Amino acid sequence: MSNDSIKNRISTLISQIREADIDYYQDDRPKLTDSDYDKLRLELINLEKMYPELVLANSPTNSVGAKPSNKFGKIKHSIPMLSLDNAFDNDDVIDFCLRVKKFLSINNDYNLAFTSEPKIDGLSASLRYENGKLVSGATRGDGTIGEDVTANLSTLRNIPLILKGNDWPDVIEVRGEVYISHKDFKIMNTKQLSLGKDIYKNPRNAAAGSLRQIDPKITAQRPLKFFAYAWGEVSHLTANTQIEFIKLLSKWGFQVNPEVKLHSNPQKMIAHYNEISNIRSNLGYDIDGVVYKVNDLLLQKRLGFVTRAPRWAIAHKFPAEKANTSLKQIDIQVGRTGALTPVARLEPITIGGVVVSNATLHNEDEIERLNVKPGDVVEVQRAGDVIPQVVRVIKSSNGPRFNIPKECPVCGSIANRDTDLVTGKMDAVRRCTNGFNCSAQAIERIKHFVSRRAFDIDGLGAKQIEFFYKNNLINEPADIFSIEARNKFIDLEKFEGWGLISVDNLFNAINEKRTIEFSRLLYALGIRHIGHGNAVIIGRHYLSWSKMLIALKSAIDYKGEQWDDLLSIDGMGNAAATSLVNFFNDSVNISIVNNLLNFIVVQDTLEPSVNSKISGKIIVFTGKFDKFSRDEAKSRAQLLGAKVSGSVSTKTNILIYGPGAGSKYKKAKELGITIMTEDEWIEFLNL
Ligand code: IVH
Repeated sequence: MSNDSIKNRISTLISQIREADIDYYQDDRPKLTDSDYDKLRLELINLEKMYPELVLANSPTNSVGAKPSNKFGKIKHSIPMLSLDNAFDNDDVIDFCLRVKKFLSINNDYNLAFTSEPKIDGLSASLRYENGKLVSGATRGDGTIGEDVTANLSTLRNIPLILKGNDWPDVIEVRGEVYISHKDFKIMNTKQLSLGKDIYKNPRNAAAGSLRQIDPKITAQRPLKFFAYAWGEVSHLTANTQIEFIKLLSKWGFQVNPEVKLHSNPQKMIAHYNEISNIRSNLGYDIDGVVYKVNDLLLQKRLGFVTRAPRWAIAHKFPAEKANTSLKQIDIQVGRTGALTPVARLEPITIGGVVVSNATLHNEDEIERLNVKPGDVVEVQRAGDVIPQVVRVIKSSNGPRFNIPKECPVCGSIANRDTDLVTGKMDAVRRCTNGFNCSAQAIERIKHFVSRRAFDIDGLGAKQIEFFYKNNLINEPADIFSIEARNKFIDLEKFEGWGLISVDNLFNAINEKRTIEFSRLLYALGIRHIGHGNAVIIGRHYLSWSKMLIALKSAIDYKGEQWDDLLSIDGMGNAAATSLVNFFNDSVNISIVNNLLNFIVVQDTLEPSVNSKISGKIIVFTGKFDKFSRDEAKSRAQLLGAKVSGSVSTKTNILIYGPGAGSKYKKAKELGITIMTEDEWIEFLNL
């Protein structure tokens, strides 16, 4: 055969295999017998072996592609991969529909259409197609940056390498869930057992492990599948509704979930949830709830999202699964903020396919409320990824009551329950008072410091951090960044478990993070009440680290201009503001941060790149609005690059007012600030 005819044969085989994959997965109507299908694949594999120079990049055998490396590259999602807020009962669903209508200023009697679809319990992935060809595939990662698993995703039989039809956009990122079916999961575990290997915990873990194989050939042998349900960047979307979009996905060759339905009110959504819940065990794959989405894509766009979840969707979770077991003992764990958390050590039991041997008891009030003690038989529940918890005592033992110690079990310092200065209420949590001097707190803070949403340092996991701390090599964040320089005295590679390569990899991973974004650094410090969401809004407000430090120093008495300014940040509560001010006015914290700043560079928050009449401007809304709900007005201004504040000060640029405006309106007038009515605002921005 000539080279050309071999090339042709290879292309034909690839199309035939892809067609067969679509018949099998997408349409559930295989036209080829398994053995005919295997013959095609075998012929292709043999040809590729004989003529490696003719192997095509889109080959389903994936004998070409990325050379195995010991690490995945990173891919920045051009549009973040969001997560979903949860609804746990029917009332939450009704509230969600009301919230959506309120935001859109839609009358409550209006039947607004929502879709519902199963929430697949797998791992999400994003596939980028340019001119109909798969060019990259990434895991979700932290939502902003994922891992480049293009080679691995290309091996999935029901991910099209080339989109079917011709009405696809030039650029589209298709998002969905990678999963393993129950049937395939059973086969995988039978195989593991016959090889004397450990079995996989559940299909989700097996899918995650299979997708993140360094060698895509191993992924190719795993029964991974993909359900498509959303999009990221898209050059031009022809669908007007969620339902139309799903139809397009199917036309382009993706497997979409057959249980998607359209509803006109929350009662119907809940009825469908109940139906899905009844057929859950027969679906053939794991789901952990139902996702509702606003059907109209223009309305989805108007609704937008809050830090990490869209306003237009919600996940209605299935109730937690429960089982009874005996409680062997109660241990006390000390967390990053010094919180003493009682943990129940259980007789291991399988709940919803996962072996559970520990469950949280939250705090001492909870122990009191449950009157739980070692030797009791207890009911334990597990919901999704949430830590299992003890729900109640089923059978009490005769043992003595269990009392939480009043000292930290790790460092022996006094552990207190604080009293809230404002409400006078005692905190439910008892905390060790020894801060960074308590080894448990120090270790947990460092673990948090390097975690995914913080510095995200590969190769510095819990085990390594404990090792470094116990050997007095890393006691605080700054030590992470000086360890390479100190290694000439340490010789890390000589320690058990370390070698030249692992040490080199670790140093490289650390060096990659010497420049860090403002919000990541703030989150990494593990300040109470400053989670990821708050860190982001604080970063957007102050823009530069040093400006924030100056402001917080002068807010020390919880009054004055800087304190008001801090509280005026949209979404900032009193507890978070107080905690932030306290943290940056404490000398131990300041020296820990200063030590760290000797080694790293903090990147200012990038101003939103949108160019509009109001980008960078500080805007205050007051009174009632007619055309937009207050929330939508705010969100639109933010999308146009403005900062929305809750109070008027000399920094305010524009005040938009409606009927009922009072003191803010007066103050703005006094300060000579630009003032507009809702209609003037709409005209000004061409909304
Ligand atoms: S929509 C912007 N639809 O659930 C909204 N997510 O808890 C993007 N998931 O990260 C998500 N099935 O991995 C959507 N039918 C479905 C889903 C689904 C599973 C996952 C997804 C997401 C997570 C959020």
